Amino acid sequence: MKQFSKLLYLLLLAPCAVWAAPQYLPDNKMSVPEDYRTWVFLTSSLDLNYNTAAAPDHHMLDNVFVDPASYQAFLKSGSWPDKTILIKENRMAESAGTLSKAGQFQVGVMNLEIHVKDEARFPNGTWAFFVSADGKAAGDLRPQSANCYSCHQDHGAVDTTFVQFYPTLMPIAKDKGTISAAYLKEIEAK
Ligand code: HEC
Repeated sequence: MKQFSKLLYLLLLAPCAVWAAPQYLPDNKMSVPEDYRTWVFLTSSLDLNYNTAAAPDHHMLDNVFVDPASYQAFLKSGSWPDKTILIKENRMAESAGTLSKAGQFQVGVMNLEIHVKDEARFPNGTWAFFVSADGKAAGDLRPQSANCYSCHQDHGAVDTTFVQFYPTLMPIAKDKGTISAAYLKEIEAK
């Protein structure tokens, strides 16, 4: 019986779990994918912070996730397919916990950022950024003039994404030769 339910899961439910399409809403919004926390985890960074939303006396941790189908495609090609969705969940860090004597751990979501590749919808750059104010509310599209686009374009190692910070993906990008010319120049100059 156990075997049978596992088989049923694999046949019927697993394909739903790996398939994630961007859900757009009116007014240039995009819903936060409900199950993104079951996606593939790419990294967690401490205080790698470029917006000043976090108070200087408060640490911040982020978690980056990618939809499973795009992750699989990246493993094969070193590049992102159309309809890739990457999510950066920003959380406050705290140090005063019941057991902790030192260190920081994650607490509530501050906000959530989405980076989505959609060639038909965003023909000018193929990628777009959305920000959800509390991690649940639909994300608002950032205009092309926002600094999200320029920083990612100039410094992201692969196709405007920060693969240099995703330790399982960087070796694949190196191997497949998909690292951007701008990033190669940047590290050469160091
Ligand atoms: C000054 C540079 C800079 C700016 C400006 C910037 N980012 Fe990023 N972004 C990064 C770095 C560095 C990472 C690496 C991952 C991390 O922080 O853990 C990243 C990662 C991300 C990711 C994870 C997927 C990816 O593309 O690698 C998302 C989503 C994201 N940023 C959204 C945004 C949004 C939305 C904005 C604008 C509101 C923005 N970023 C502005 C530097 C920047």
